[in-house]
Order: sequence, then C-alpha cells, then structure tokens
Amino acid sequence: MCGIVALASKHGDVVDRLVTGLTALEYRGYDSAGLSTVSSRALHTYRAVGRVENLRNVIPDSADASIGIAHTRWAVMGAVTEENAHPQSDGETAVVHNGIIENAHELKILVPDAHWTGQTDTEILVHLISKFVTDGHDFAEAVQETVRLIKGTYAIAAIHKNFPGTIIGVRHINPLAVGIAQNGDLFLTSDIAAVPLDKFVDLDDGDICVIKRCDNANIQTSFFNFDGELAIPCEKEWQEGRSVSEFCGLGDSPDFTIKEIREQPQVIQKCVDALQNGIYAPFVECLQTKELLNLVGCGSSFHAGLIGKYWVRKYLGMFACSEIASEFKFENGPISKKSLNIFISQSGETLDTIRALEDVRGSGGEFAVLTNVLHSTMAKITPSNLLVGLNAGPEFSVVSTKAFLAQVATLLCIAIQYLNARNPKLADSLTQDLERVPYLIGEIAQHEYTSPLLQDASSISFLGRGLFYPLALEAALKLKEITYLQAEGLPGGEMKHGDIGLIDSRSVCVVIAPTKAHFRKIASNVH
Ligand code: F6R
Repeated sequence: MCGIVALASKHGDVVDRLVTGLTALEYRGYDSAGLSTVSSRALHTYRAVGRVENLRNVIPDSADASIGIAHTRWAVMGAVTEENAHPQSDGETAVVHNGIIENAHELKILVPDAHWTGQTDTEILVHLISKFVTDGHDFAEAVQETVRLIKGTYAIAAIHKNFPGTIIGVRHINPLAVGIAQNGDLFLTSDIAAVPLDKFVDLDDGDICVIKRCDNANIQTSFFNFDGELAIPCEKEWQEGRSVSEFCGLGDSPDFTIKEIREQPQVIQKCVDALQNGIYAPFVECLQTKELLNLVGCGSSFHAGLIGKYWVRKYLGMFACSEIASEFKFENGPISKKSLNIFISQSGETLDTIRALEDVRGSGGEFAVLTNVLHSTMAKITPSNLLVGLNAGPEFSVVSTKAFLAQVATLLCIAIQYLNARNPKLADSLTQDLERVPYLIGEIAQHEYTSPLLQDASSISFLGRGLFYPLALEAALKLKEITYLQAEGLPGGEMKHGDIGLIDSRSVCVVIAPTKAHFRKIASNVH
C-alpha cells in the first residue's frame, strides 16, 4: 500500500520529519520512496528505489524547507523505478498520489507540450495543475480544475513552486487526514497511525484542504467540499489524536508480525469481554428478521467470512454465502429484504470491498460492517447498530494475523450472542471454549517452529476439511506473503481431483487434522 505524509512547519525542518514519517509508513509495504520541498521559490525533489534509508542517502545535508510532501510507493502502474517513484514533478508542481487515475491516458491530449518522464497515471496530475497555473489560475483553482477532469480514486497532496507556503490535499475514496502536531505544525497523511497528532480531521470524499504557511510562520487550514463543479467552503470537526508511540513501539518483538501474533491472546480476551458486556446484542437484534447472510471480503477477510459462513449455517440455522468482494455483484446475488450483506475488512479501506458495499447501498440493500478501524470509509457509511468494531488495536504488519483472528472471534461471538436466547447451554459451552483460547495461543506463541522441509519444496499445500478448509486457505496465503513461495490451500477431499498430480518427493503437504473433526476422512486423504 502506498503512503502519504506532507508537512507545513513553523520552522525550516521538514526534511527530517518527513523522512521519519515515511519510516513510520514503512510497515505498509512499498518499493520506492521520495519527497519534494519548496524553498526560495524552487522545487526540490528526491527519490530512490528501495528503502527509505536509500532516500535519506540521496538527500543533501543542506536540504531543508518549511513545507514538503513525501510518499512511499507500491508499484501498481509502471515499473519500480526512480522515474515512477513519487513525488511526480515537472519542476513547477510536485504531486504524491494514492489510488488510480483511470482516464490519465485520455487526458494527455490536454497537455500536448508536456514532457513525460515515467509510466505512472499520477504524472497527468502534475501537468494539468501546472497548465492551469500557467493559464492564470491560483494554485487551489488549478487543483480544482484538475480534479474536475479526472476519474478514478485518489488521495493527493500537491505543492507548487510559485506558492511556496501552500500544500493542497484532495480526497476521493482513498483516505487522507489533516492533523495538528503538538507544536501547531500541520500534517497531511493517508495514515493517522503513522504521525503523532494532537488533533485530526479525517477528510470526506470530495474534500479539498488548503494548508497555508503565512509569512509570520502561522499555519492556517481551510476546507472545501467539491461537488464536481463548485468548491464550497465547509467546517470540519477536529477529533482527538493519539501519540504515535502508542502505536509504533515494537517492545521486545523483532518485528510487527511477531508482535501482533503475540498480541492475539489479548485480542480474543477483548472479544470475550465484549460478548459478556452485551456489545454484540444490537447487531444480533438486526439479524432476527433475516434469512440469508452474505459475508463479503478480500484475502484474509474473505477467509474469515468463509469460517463465519459455517457458524451461521450451523448455529444460526440461516442460509449464508461467503463472497470475494471483487466478485460480488449485488444484482447477480440473492436479493431479498430478508438478506443482510456483511462486509468484513481489517482496514475498512479496501477498494474492492468498498465498491461491493456501494453496489449494495446503491441498490437499497441492507449492509453491515465488521472492521478494525472505526474512522474508516466503510465505518463512516454504516448505521451504528450494524457496525461492529474488531478491537484488535492497530495492525501494522502487512500480513494480517491478530485482525484476522479478531474477525473470526467476533463472528463466533455474534453466533454465541444469537444462541444465548435460543440454546443457552450451547452458548455457554462455546463461550467456555473461547475463554480458553487466549491461554492456548499464549502457549503456542512461546515456541518458534522452523521446518527445513520448506526450503527445497517444489510445492506446498495446506489441507483441511470443514471449518479447517478456510484455515488451510489462510495458512497458504500467510506462507506466500512471508516467504514468496508458491502455496495452496485445499479442501482435503479435493486433492484427489487433480492436485495430486503435483505430488512428488519434494512437495510438502501440511494437513490440519484435529482429532474431533473429520479425522477419519482427513486421515484417508493423508494416505
Ligand atoms: C493478508 C492480508 C490481506 C487482507 C486483504 C483485505 O495477510 O492482510 O489479504 O486481508 O487485503 O484487507 P482488509 O481486511 O483491510 O479489507
């Protein structure tokens, strides 16, 4: 995921602080980084492929300024090169951008004299803004004119050399927030967890924010909402921020993945506490009139939905489907007033899931959201009784662990809450099982297992049946993400229908075989 951090500082010290901001964004994954500043009416841009450390090495010690924008890029359009890294700049305007400009190619006709340096969709923004400034617009107008033309999704931060105190931010679907640091400096960021902020405003879709550092070093912010034609000034509510150290400390863990795995017992405990405090009761109330639940998500969140499907069918006695968000089309799915579409997302910002949700919303369907980020795009558009927080705490690792577990535990807690009135004995027994999980995970997490088998493996498959099939899928996804090895998750019974052809002396098969569930069958698969 790409990351944006921009800063207007009262003092001339933005370079170091932007680099620190980029370092805090590293956890999101990236392949290049860069920053631009304006000082003495000149634009300076530095970029490097690879780590933020590489960027630091190409920035001269003398470089500094009072405003700047910075970015970590994860290549989606255009190769991983310095030319394609952000900021994109033509020497007049510099832009950092998260998202995709879908009509970038068609718009090139509007800037026939532009000199193109890379293959990104972002570069069109630079040339359009520069063109509108040259045409006589002020900076904010030039950005508005540009936004009027573009189609796609974006969070943008831009600076221009002729407007040395100004940073402009625009949000459309991709997250962007404005925050005030303790000393009154102003940040723009796509990730409030990465920057220490006293207060922040989470921009809404269509919002434009103009940050101006005046000659007396005071910094002002104004907000506009852009309806496609007019930018109307608007007031925004500032929310209390949190200090970055609250999120970022690794403690005695070597990295965020391990840290977050170690946090899993507390995550389950929080779900148990929430269950006991009746937190899931309003949500379960909404389920009373439903006959079908669609559980929708991507990646690990989809896998959590697959597990949820088993529980809905088994404990709630309802029909349930689990769907991959990018494949989910409301008009093609089972539509009924009696269905509820439950979107599952750690971040609440995954575009495929947002699009599926919007599809449901636009068609008048009822939807609920399970997310870990209660100020996310998905959370903001969900009625409060249909919004369930996962309470896992911020997840920094690209590899979802504790949030996945929180999704699964939350779905089980919802099932238990439902059973409380219908089958209290079963509800009690499931609660007791769940209460033991923090202890059991704690035990397992104390040990680290290494398998020499994986090193020379020609293929790796994870096999499970029933509830353990989604777990096999999740295990394969985790292994792929961490090791870059090819891995697959399969329902045990499917192996004989084709994949068995891949088995040779170097293939590794990990079988999830709990003695109490489908053991005979999975044992037969092992044979
Ligand atoms: C895997 C992982 C991804 C996410 C997926 C959806 O470790 O993290 O598969 O689960 O990209 O993201 P969210 O849950 O934020 O919608």
